[in-house]
Amino acid sequence: MTIIDGKKISDEIKSELKIKVEEAKSKGLGVPGLTAILVGEDPASQVYVNSKNKACEKIGMNSVVEILPEKTAETELIEIVRKYNADKNTNGILVQLPLPSHISEQKVIEAILPEKDVDGFHPVNVGKLVIGLETFYPCTPYGIVELLKRYKIETSGKHVVVVGRSNIVGKPIANMLLQKNENANSIVTVVHSAAKDISEFTKHADILIAAIGKPNFITAGMVKEGVTVIDVGINRIDSPESKKGYKIVGDVDFDSVSQKAAYITPVPGGVGRMTIAMLLQNTYNAFIKQNEI
Ligand code: GUN
Repeated sequence: MTIIDGKKISDEIKSELKIKVEEAKSKGLGVPGLTAILVGEDPASQVYVNSKNKACEKIGMNSVVEILPEKTAETELIEIVRKYNADKNTNGILVQLPLPSHISEQKVIEAILPEKDVDGFHPVNVGKLVIGLETFYPCTPYGIVELLKRYKIETSGKHVVVVGRSNIVGKPIANMLLQKNENANSIVTVVHSAAKDISEFTKHADILIAAIGKPNFITAGMVKEGVTVIDVGINRIDSPESKKGYKIVGDVDFDSVSQKAAYITPVPGGVGRMTIAMLLQNTYNAFIKQNEI
């Protein structure tokens, strides 16, 4: 059994990008820049935005963080997005989700220029992904594809079972692995909460992608021998014995499932690590495209 090391691979990607950013700077081509917008004070969102900001700075990219009060009006937020659409130093714009309930996430996503939508959430980019055109891939699914590629795990002709149908993970990863290219070409099944018995599907997976948000949901009885398991879950559960009083676990019961798996991602240290690396990759790609390099 091989544990897929998301920390190692994400560090590799960040090092590769750091070199490319330095090269661009030394050639006088400018510096890639990401603007992250956070509305409100959700502690988890604050942690994510801070990590994105630090990761940018570490590889020499420009990073702007715009923090707005919870009561910000939708029109005001859209005006701010438009300001960064027009800003030459911003190559990528990210509005941290979820937004407060009085703001339409869809309207805000659609206000971002598709060319700067480094989350890959704009309907134009979603449509391009579905029909196999070059676009920004949402960062978590992009990270999964990169892990499979760098561990040389065959996807062509393999049965991928995706558990979960979110717009951020389930739907895009299913569509990406369905494409006819060398890092995809899979037979894809998407299963979700309406299934009577999810294990009827998961048992047949060569590659199982769990993105449901339920701690330790996938157990050994639900998978076949030799499966590759990609665990997207980040769930906080009570843990009186740990210092903080809680611990982070995935959607997969790692201890039992790892006994049957050929490859498995740990939580933490698996897919989560990749999301930020791929956000930086998308921002660099946006910079290259916008400057026609
Ligand atoms: N909230 C949870 N995941 C994400 C993500 O990938 N992008 C944004 N913008 N918000 C999120």
